[in-house]
Amino acid sequence: MSILYNEEKRTITLQTRNSTYQMKIDELNTVLHTYYGEKTADDDMSYAIHRIDRGLSGNPAEIAKIDRSYSLDTLPQEYSGFGTGDYRVTAARVLHGDGTQALRFRYAGHEIYPGKYSIPGLPAAYDDADDAMTLALTLKDTEANVTAILYYGVFEKADVITRAVKLINDGPEPKVVNKVASVNLDFIGDDLDMITFYGRWARERTPEREHVTHGIHSIGSVRGSSSPHYSPSVILCDPTADEFTGSAYGVTFVYSCEFELEIEKDMINNTRLVLGIHPDNFAWTLQPGEVFDAPEAILTYSANGISEMSNNLHRFIRKHIVRGPWRDARRPVLINNWEGTYFNFDGDKLVSIAADAATLGVEMFVLDDGWFGKRDDDNSGLGDWFPNEKKLGCTIEELGKRIKATGVKFGIWFEPEAVSEDSDLYRTHPDWAVTIPGRKPNLSRNELILDLSRVDVQDYLIKCMSDVIRAAQIDYVKWDYNRSICDKYSHALPKERQGEMTHRFMLGTYRVLEALLTEFPDLLIEGCSSGGGRFDAGMMYYTPQIWGSDDTDPIERLEIQYGTSFIYPVSTVGSHVSATPNHQTGRVTPLDTRGIVAMSGTFGYELDINKMSAEEKDEVQRQISVFKELYSTIQYGNYYRLTTPFDHTCTVWEMADEDGARAVVNAVYHAVRANPAPVFVKVKGLKKEAKYTMRLMEAPGLMYPLDTRQQAVFDGETLYSGQTLMTRGFYIPAYRKEYQGWQIIIEEK
Ligand code: GLA
Repeated sequence: MSILYNEEKRTITLQTRNSTYQMKIDELNTVLHTYYGEKTADDDMSYAIHRIDRGLSGNPAEIAKIDRSYSLDTLPQEYSGFGTGDYRVTAARVLHGDGTQALRFRYAGHEIYPGKYSIPGLPAAYDDADDAMTLALTLKDTEANVTAILYYGVFEKADVITRAVKLINDGPEPKVVNKVASVNLDFIGDDLDMITFYGRWARERTPEREHVTHGIHSIGSVRGSSSPHYSPSVILCDPTADEFTGSAYGVTFVYSCEFELEIEKDMINNTRLVLGIHPDNFAWTLQPGEVFDAPEAILTYSANGISEMSNNLHRFIRKHIVRGPWRDARRPVLINNWEGTYFNFDGDKLVSIAADAATLGVEMFVLDDGWFGKRDDDNSGLGDWFPNEKKLGCTIEELGKRIKATGVKFGIWFEPEAVSEDSDLYRTHPDWAVTIPGRKPNLSRNELILDLSRVDVQDYLIKCMSDVIRAAQIDYVKWDYNRSICDKYSHALPKERQGEMTHRFMLGTYRVLEALLTEFPDLLIEGCSSGGGRFDAGMMYYTPQIWGSDDTDPIERLEIQYGTSFIYPVSTVGSHVSATPNHQTGRVTPLDTRGIVAMSGTFGYELDINKMSAEEKDEVQRQISVFKELYSTIQYGNYYRLTTPFDHTCTVWEMADEDGARAVVNAVYHAVRANPAPVFVKVKGLKKEAKYTMRLMEAPGLMYPLDTRQQAVFDGETLYSGQTLMTRGFYIPAYRKEYQGWQIIIEEK
């Protein structure tokens, strides 16, 4: 049993393979949080809660005269209230009929059952491996007539606990939910560092580590998406923790819209983490008896460093978030025409790219922006999802047939949630755009947001998109989303419900995605938001892969993919080889290096393959066959960050099969120095006793061959024990050219 209720002590203990989480129902029926961390016994750990009478920290009426040490202001709790004596960041705030917002939750019962709860209309982890149990813990505020049901999904083998919350209006009059967090996690006395991930367009997910000091530390998004500006995730760890030692907690939100993550270290050094929908643009009316479902969050813990924590999340996202046939099947190596042609193409050009690519082993051609409506630049046409037959020179059915006749699958780009002012859709339905009456809207890439909180808008998109997918037998959709939302107003909602627009917009987007997957169960959807601007586990429930960044420079990608790897698995990260000089940075890099970096993602190409030389085409062919050979290790193996791109001259990362049979070590020199010191690495995840060979995957066309001594180390024949490779380690061969990349295959013999 992974969930234990001790009736006598009134504790509920959640056990995973390597972690324990405990709560305790106390004498006032407050549900206290007593522990989350390394696996331990089922003792009542509430003894660790320090209680003394503290000035300015009041006491609940029922105990004030008996025990002044009892204060909601200092007790660690499972779900904090508002305005009733706990002055820290709060989990929930509800406007009642009398104008007050007070909330105080108390235990009212619980249920434990096998399997995993689900959440209506929202993405959530699922269990098809017989791993999960659910705890549904009911808390009530009987004075305010509000119920909160806290859901815990305990995935024992996966070492993960998921959380979600349902809020119910039990009262006789409407209430407005102003804040409802999905997670409230109190740490008792732990000294912590926090790692968050900031970014911007083309620079997503840069890790930043800082000590959690007193006060409130907060990140979030009010942009209508999870955003590249802050990833909806956090790692909390021991100040001494590193990749391979120390305590590390990982928390990530299964939600793609506005979020707020607050971390408060309080006056007695307890730390509270609160994560949920961002309250700024949120006000949700609940009529009597109505329910609001808050999205899910994923929690994991490792006592063995940040790397193991990352791998717990990777495995979990791969197996319990990503769904459908593409969860386990090998994803196609694709070529996308965006950086190859931009808007400048016709049907013949597309077919010639597909044909050239097919001969080299590419498995899918993706037609990017510009195939529909009036769309020869990014100022018009969004919303008119009708193929531009004049530009294509044929119908979309015919184009689909011609592309497929070259031997590849066919994918196509949409930006469903946007509309151009210069489009038939906008001219016909100006009220379908998100704009505030009487205010000129902010434009971004000259586009407006389509109001997906409206069912008629959702139905329009489902119809247009399905028609195209059906007609051209589309195998893959790139679902793009290229702006942040502001000027929020839905022409279909009454004024008192405008605070619901943003979340309803997200629910609408999820509904359209679900409808497409229901009608086309084999469809592979790749998410995108000007690159990795909506890169979260919520999208991954529908889109098994997401374009990692519009920045395709492999040296920049080292940092982006490094940051991404803390939370998200390689199998979700769209990554392509593009032309050199790079279109975002102008940097010139070797083709083999570009291949190595793109292979640490869902591999593909994004360039005009017709323009490549014969040698370059040979190298493309070689890369694709290497990728196919190494696929299972790359996409499903454990991931290890062996050096960081931020303070080394060489970024080294490794993927190793879970059973240790094979590992791939990738290294890219991102700075050159004369007479360089060797870069040493110790491999991870091998079997100590097993014997391995090391093989260098060499690209033809190196400027100078390796010297024979170095060559001999990686000859693919000499045997090394797993223990030696993990303890003594080895050096990365020196570079022979700028931005040299190496790929070393370590195989059990
Ligand atoms: C966004 C995407 C790109 C490309 C363009 C097309 O920027 O991130 O990959 O699809 O839109 O307009």
